[in-house]
Amino acid sequence: TEMHIIFPLAAYLLGSIPFGLVIGRMAGIDVRKEGSRNIGATNVSRVLGKKLGFITLVCDCLKGFVPTYLAAVVLAESGSSELVTAMTGLMAVVGHMFPVYLGFRGGKGVATGLGVFLFFSPAAIGISLLIFVVLVAVTGFVSVGSLLASGLIPVWLYLLGASKVTVGVAVVIALLIWLKHHQNIARLLRGEEKTWKKSAG
Ligand code: G3P
Repeated sequence: TEMHIIFPLAAYLLGSIPFGLVIGRMAGIDVRKEGSRNIGATNVSRVLGKKLGFITLVCDCLKGFVPTYLAAVVLAESGSSELVTAMTGLMAVVGHMFPVYLGFRGGKGVATGLGVFLFFSPAAIGISLLIFVVLVAVTGFVSVGSLLASGLIPVWLYLLGASKVTVGVAVVIALLIWLKHHQNIARLLRGEEKTWKKSAG
């Protein structure tokens, strides 16, 4: 039915809302011109402080969680609900990464992916979140935590017995997250990566 198109499409449009950019603008800064120039929570934190960074994280996370949750609830009786729910989550992340409102130049999809998989498997997210927190605490680099934590989500899902569709979408999202981090990977290899902390002054 049309629901099978409407949910992924609505998720894409919702995912496209660049909360980091909006919150940055409210504070008088275009985060696309400062720090890593990314629109995500890490760069908002780096440029404007951890409070606004945290608000960006929550908003970007919700735009992954809410449409995925709604698709699952509304389509619960339909035979194809699992596939459509997975596509809805994927499209929320795609929206954040390639937002229609910003000429398809968006963020790296970590917070939105977190929201999506918080719905599919809180256990998988729990394990990856622990690894993320430890890696960021030890290295100071959010990108290191993002790359490892996102890359391991498909592994946890597989080990926890998740469906092929869920594992497949997790693999696609992890690959997209890695591609979106190519500049971070290059900076890490050059020893030039920046932390998430706002520098004083
Ligand atoms: O989630 C994005 C994070 O992994 C890296 O952000 O601003 O350091 O490129 P940034």
